[in-house]
Amino acid sequence: MYLHNRKFIAKTMQIALFLLKSIDLTIAFIGAVLLNNNTADNKKVLIGTVLSFMENPFHYELSDSVNIAENSAILVVGSKISKIGSPDELIANNPDAEVHDFHEKLLLPGFIDAHAHYPQTPIIASWGKRLIDWLNTYTFPEEQKYGNIEYAAKIAEIYLDFLISNGTTSVSTFCTTHPESADAIFLAAQKRNMCLVAGKNAMDRNAPEALLDTPQIAYDQSKNLIQRWHLNGRLRYAITPRFSPTSSPEQLSMLGELWTEYPDCLMQTHLSEQIDELEWVQSLFPSARDYLDTYEQSGLLGKNAVFGHAIHLKKREVDRLKDIGAGVVHCPTSNTFIGSGLFDMEHLQKQKITIGLATDTGGGSSFSMLRSMASCYEIAQLRKNTLHPAQLLWLATMGSAKSLHLDQEIGNLKPGYHADIIALDLHSTSIIAQRVRSVDNIWGAIFPTLMMGDDRAITATFVAGNLVYSNEAQNVLSS
Ligand code: GUN
Ligand code: ZN
Repeated sequence: MYLHNRKFIAKTMQIALFLLKSIDLTIAFIGAVLLNNNTADNKKVLIGTVLSFMENPFHYELSDSVNIAENSAILVVGSKISKIGSPDELIANNPDAEVHDFHEKLLLPGFIDAHAHYPQTPIIASWGKRLIDWLNTYTFPEEQKYGNIEYAAKIAEIYLDFLISNGTTSVSTFCTTHPESADAIFLAAQKRNMCLVAGKNAMDRNAPEALLDTPQIAYDQSKNLIQRWHLNGRLRYAITPRFSPTSSPEQLSMLGELWTEYPDCLMQTHLSEQIDELEWVQSLFPSARDYLDTYEQSGLLGKNAVFGHAIHLKKREVDRLKDIGAGVVHCPTSNTFIGSGLFDMEHLQKQKITIGLATDTGGGSSFSMLRSMASCYEIAQLRKNTLHPAQLLWLATMGSAKSLHLDQEIGNLKPGYHADIIALDLHSTSIIAQRVRSVDNIWGAIFPTLMMGDDRAITATFVAGNLVYSNEAQNVLSS
């Protein structure tokens, strides 16, 4: 009884703290909006070299898929892109616009990280383990801290700031089993007006007791979070069974039922990451035809499903993903860091499967999508498949947006799209700058930054039309 009361009091205090924190964050959010003064008719003209996509460069010629316009400009009105055109014309027609002149810097859609684990921020780059040992040694102990809303909010804030300074304007992230962990990241994203996908992990076996829920609790808590956050502004909910080994068939089925109630939610999970894991899945689900079938049997395969890793796929799995139109996400720095294997980009692109790109932090060893593009290039090279820089940029923007079904809103620079825009410096270090001196075309100038760039290459990040990060003294003019 005493213990029970103590637990009750502790829980009540946590909820009170959470409410206080929410009020605090709401005030901060309103403050940020007022500070940015980004009203619906607030105008900005961003000048630079503008890169936009017309088609997927994996399936179309370069000249038909990518447009690069030097000395061009983007007119942003409120939170959206209104027009792309010549700087002189846009400035002349919008004398009230704030002008940001990025000169020869590349203006790109903000990067979209299609699979990450924000609670693993504090344990990124942990040494010496492969997937299952890595989860048990580093990940599960850290994740146990996220029932504490204060701690979760602290890491959520740090994490989103890391993303923004790395040019990432949207992410689809796993949380922990605790609903507090989902509340924390949604609040932090709402404060920044970011487009963010997240979901509470469902796990009812093969993890420490403190991280387990049950089929019913996972259903109830996920439903509650959907009602609070899904389609709340720029936020989206993803039903998130962590992976088959940590969910019973009953739990997967209950989440499948929940998905039929909310079919426009995403469903994110892991698929076929490491060989040892595949063997474990086979022993836990003896009647399943393959790894994908453990989800399919429970109603968790649909067009809004997105599967991280997808490295060791069987033919039936590829065919099913293709038939259903589900997406997969390549997590290259994680796949090399944890030693998982070489994603087969060429084959999956040929099958026209939607592919996004991701850091998978903290299994991945960097928050930077530039680093993910470099690793993606290197893995493809090991498979004798040479990727063009346009293809790498596509994966980090439109590819990820498509895998998350957000490609009508983000991932490109087009009128009507959200003004999630970054200015990329193609001379950000002396090593990159000396390499660029001897190139003879724009792709030659872009490639060294994709291979060797990091957060120093991100000159500025705009989210929904607001300048949220800058690493240089701004050259802002009011015309
Ligand atoms: N499989 C299940 N959980 C995880 C995780 O947190 N990271 C990675 N890379 N794979 C997983
Ligand atoms: Zn993952």
